[in-house]
Amino acid sequence: MALLAPQSQTVTPPYKNTSLSADKRAEDLLGRMTLQEKVAMLAGATWMESAANERLGIPSLKMADGPVGVRSWSGPSALTNAAGSKLPQVLSTAFPAGVALGATWDPEMAGRVGQALGAEVRALGRNMLLGPSVNIHRTPWAGRNFETYGEDPYLSSRLVVAYIKGMQGEGVIATVKHFAANSQEFERRTIDEKIGERALHEIYFPAFKAAVQEAGVWSVMSAYNKVNGLWCAENPYLLTDTLKKRWGFQGFVVSDWGGTHSTIDGAVAGLDIEMPGPGSVRALLNHDETTRQNFTGGFQAPEKVLPEIESGKIPQAVVDDRVRRMLRAMFAVGIFDRTDSEKGDVDTPDEIAVARKAATEGIVLLKNERGLLPIQPGKVRSIAVIGPSAAVARTGGGGSSNVKSKYAVTPMQAISQRGGKKQFLITYAQGAVMEGEDPDKAKDSAALIKDAAVLAANSDLAVVFVGNSSKLESEGHDRATLGLPAGQEELIKAVTAVNPRTVVVLIAGSPVLMDNWVGKVPALVAAWYPGQEGGHAIADILFGDANPSGKLPMTFPKEWKDSPAYGHYPGENGTVDYAEGIYVGYRHFDKHNIEPLFPFGHGLSYTTFAYSDLKVSPHEVSLALRNTGSREGAEVVQLYLGDSHSSVDRPVKELKGFRRVVLKPGETKTVTFGLDKSALSYYSTAKKDWVAEPGTFEVLVGASSRDIRLKGKFELAGK
Ligand code: BGC
Repeated sequence: MALLAPQSQTVTPPYKNTSLSADKRAEDLLGRMTLQEKVAMLAGATWMESAANERLGIPSLKMADGPVGVRSWSGPSALTNAAGSKLPQVLSTAFPAGVALGATWDPEMAGRVGQALGAEVRALGRNMLLGPSVNIHRTPWAGRNFETYGEDPYLSSRLVVAYIKGMQGEGVIATVKHFAANSQEFERRTIDEKIGERALHEIYFPAFKAAVQEAGVWSVMSAYNKVNGLWCAENPYLLTDTLKKRWGFQGFVVSDWGGTHSTIDGAVAGLDIEMPGPGSVRALLNHDETTRQNFTGGFQAPEKVLPEIESGKIPQAVVDDRVRRMLRAMFAVGIFDRTDSEKGDVDTPDEIAVARKAATEGIVLLKNERGLLPIQPGKVRSIAVIGPSAAVARTGGGGSSNVKSKYAVTPMQAISQRGGKKQFLITYAQGAVMEGEDPDKAKDSAALIKDAAVLAANSDLAVVFVGNSSKLESEGHDRATLGLPAGQEELIKAVTAVNPRTVVVLIAGSPVLMDNWVGKVPALVAAWYPGQEGGHAIADILFGDANPSGKLPMTFPKEWKDSPAYGHYPGENGTVDYAEGIYVGYRHFDKHNIEPLFPFGHGLSYTTFAYSDLKVSPHEVSLALRNTGSREGAEVVQLYLGDSHSSVDRPVKELKGFRRVVLKPGETKTVTFGLDKSALSYYSTAKKDWVAEPGTFEVLVGASSRDIRLKGKFELAGK
């Protein structure tokens, strides 16, 4: 009997074997690639995608902007809005701005937002989000403050870790940005920031470090600016020494769009992929003269990189490392093992619920005299809803984070819906025109204010919606004023003059100076840019369906001259000196004993809380928290440590723990914080390491950085 020929067998290469580790698969695949194939991956193929490799089945990284919603375009992303794309923008859920998430002080909520966003990235057929943003608020002028979590590195770290875990758990690569210290938009593409090593490690780095070491983030975006003389995309101190060697980052570094300046320096400093791709750069540079002047790129194109490899100026090992990092990340989140199609749902009921809850939790009740809020049906029958942000949904700030949502609820809609049911008489007056929005109408500003005042005078309560807009607070430029623009201050004064029962709701992403009107206003609410469900969230708070629990993630100064960066912003001759060093935010106000308008961590509730039974050791702090009011509420308990015995200058106190605790009326819970070396240490520039010095540490527990309810001490023993 003739032997049967053996059936042809295809051997599956190890990189396709899903039971192997991401490292093993990446190594195997790398070994199969030609030099040309590797080099093709070092720059994008298009505006938002990396080069795919058909021969080996390497999919492309399909990126989309974030961090507060998926900002993407349908169709091939060779170009986008930046180059005047005609492609339709994809609709997706507009989550509250980063600063609103910062104000929740709720890592669990950040995790839910990250997860919901990750699901939308997948549903839209993308696999990498260009977010979260964690640049520290150094100055209230900064145009992009609204995207990030505020002024404190510890708060930012806790939130970003949860957000990234939520997102990457969905099989999406998160990109923490912009590394490092993109804390102003003024001259962002060219400015050289002089920042001391200690300030970098203690203030500007921690959220990135936590993203790497605790969340295992797979991508880091380098910033446009220079840090200490070198562009961030070709800064070996940032990218190689700190990120990759010191912190052990396993993922890849992506440049900011047009943030590269050279072929060799970028390659050897630690940049992994240049974005956008050279084709997009060429198209952009053909666009117009201004773009040409403002944009660079195309340095990691194969025709530029290959000769430098041949000449030995870019070692092959560097190329391997860059490609390996991208492959590893793609294997780790599962991009090789699935087909992403644009078929999923976005804006699902779950995602909408997350957007609403996050917006509600982020709202901060700054002031509430005579219990004006929540609005009480018996006492209030008519409500005048006023202001240039009352009948407009200002979901987010401007620039690459701005999401196009399917719908967005305005405060006026939600108040009418909610208030109407309770038989309130609700009226509306615009009162002022937001700067740059309706020039013809703006000419009648006196008449607008008068109409609003008449309405307010004839109502039991006035609620005035003021603030900024996505044009005024945006990527690409800093704010033009710290006060309220466009006659909004006059509006508030006119309304409060005729109706002392006035609530002001601030829709803005950064502190606003208000010393000249805040005393006239009994109730004040910061709602930030609250996303598409913002109107509902605001109405929930105003009518008391939700109890406010947000806390300020930054200090509100009384005047600009009180701010840490005063005198050292925006810089001159292309340089800005971060001369305040580690004294950013409340660290500065504490050190110089300056009374803020509203302190970091401040936020009121409709109930009250009592703090007691502080127990302190070098490893643990605990206390009892009781709800002493008559309704359920959440308090964010804040733990600060002081180290006045230190041999180097240290802040009076620093946030080292916080917990959002929900309590029923009369309920008590024990709140416990673990302490480790990192909570006690400063960064020693002499030792180039973190140091916890033996001695006495002060423990301060409170409801804000200036409302300390319990104090204790512990000794850290010497070795
Ligand atoms: C922004 C980034 C953004 C990128 C892509 C840049 O101008 O700084 O945050 O991800 O554009 O749109």
